[in-house]
Amino acid sequence: MKDLLATVKSNKKIAENIYMMTLVLPESVGQMHGGQFVNLSTGNGAHLLRRPLGVCMCEGDEVSVCYQVKGKGTKYLTEVEAGRKLQVLLPLGNWFDLDGCKNVAVIGGGVGIFPLVATIREHFQTKNFYSYIGFRNIDAVCLYNELAKSKKLTITTDDGSYGEKGNAVGAYLRDAANINPDIIISCGPPVMLRVLKQKLKEAGITTPCFVSLEERMGCGMGACLVCVCKTASGENARVCRDGPVFDINEVQL
Ligand SMILES: Cc1cc2nc3c(=O)[nH]c(=O)nc-3n(C[C@H](O)[C@H](O)[C@H](O)COP(=O)(O)OP(=O)(O)OC[C@H]3O[C@@H](n4cnc5c(N)ncnc54)[C@H](O)[C@@H]3O)c2cc1C
Ligand code: FES
Repeated sequence: MKDLLATVKSNKKIAENIYMMTLVLPESVGQMHGGQFVNLSTGNGAHLLRRPLGVCMCEGDEVSVCYQVKGKGTKYLTEVEAGRKLQVLLPLGNWFDLDGCKNVAVIGGGVGIFPLVATIREHFQTKNFYSYIGFRNIDAVCLYNELAKSKKLTITTDDGSYGEKGNAVGAYLRDAANINPDIIISCGPPVMLRVLKQKLKEAGITTPCFVSLEERMGCGMGACLVCVCKTASGENARVCRDGPVFDINEVQL
């Protein structure tokens, strides 16, 4: 993990309310993996806490993150221009470990798709991804070419304005028996992950399933305990350090 002063290479809108920022790092941080995240300063001294954002793409000394405009910090980030320098702590957290897996089901929704894109990019040449990705509507659809590196891609929208009308979990459950994957990986809004856990249980699907969680964060490196979640046995786990990727059966959602 390194705390670096990175240079913004580009910062562009890629969908309604979604931006992609590419940072050039002054030195290598080694290989980064899908699921890991960065803690990025907004560049505004009034925002003391950095913002956790999933690694979406990394190539050489460049790393790209995608962010949805939510509050003051992400709004400020949209105004950051190329050439500006931002402090960034990276890489943080664990990742989706696909060792020994050939067929991978991917279930993603909203801003949860970004770490999944990083995972697909990293492994699509050696593994088969069956991806089920949910967006709110056609205006939210982004990174299609990256998602399409999957062997099979199903896109759903809530209103049917793009792809199938419905949600990613429902679309996956319909096809689950045919795919019979070695592992399921998922990231998305908490309600989507809760539904996924419930539906897998109801359907008696025992495929190993790993989810990436989002919690409010402070330090991003295990020291402040702002980000704790509850494990299935009722103990505390730090999302930043013990996660953000957890076995779906080992955390309370
Ligand atoms: C591991 C991890 C990876 C993430 N990856 C992405 C990503 O790739 N793309 C993306 O759009 N969003 C991602 N998020 C959510 C993103 O961090 C928040 O949307 C963002 O911090 C909101 O900042 P803000 O200043 O706009 O909002 P404000 O509400 O003004 O933020 C106030 C404070 O709360 C924190 N905060 C608010 N919402 C969240 C949240 N959902 N999760 C964590 N902290 C929050 C902020 O960091 C800040 O410290 C991720 C969160 C985590 C924990
Ligand atoms: S954010 Fe500080 S311990 Fe996780």
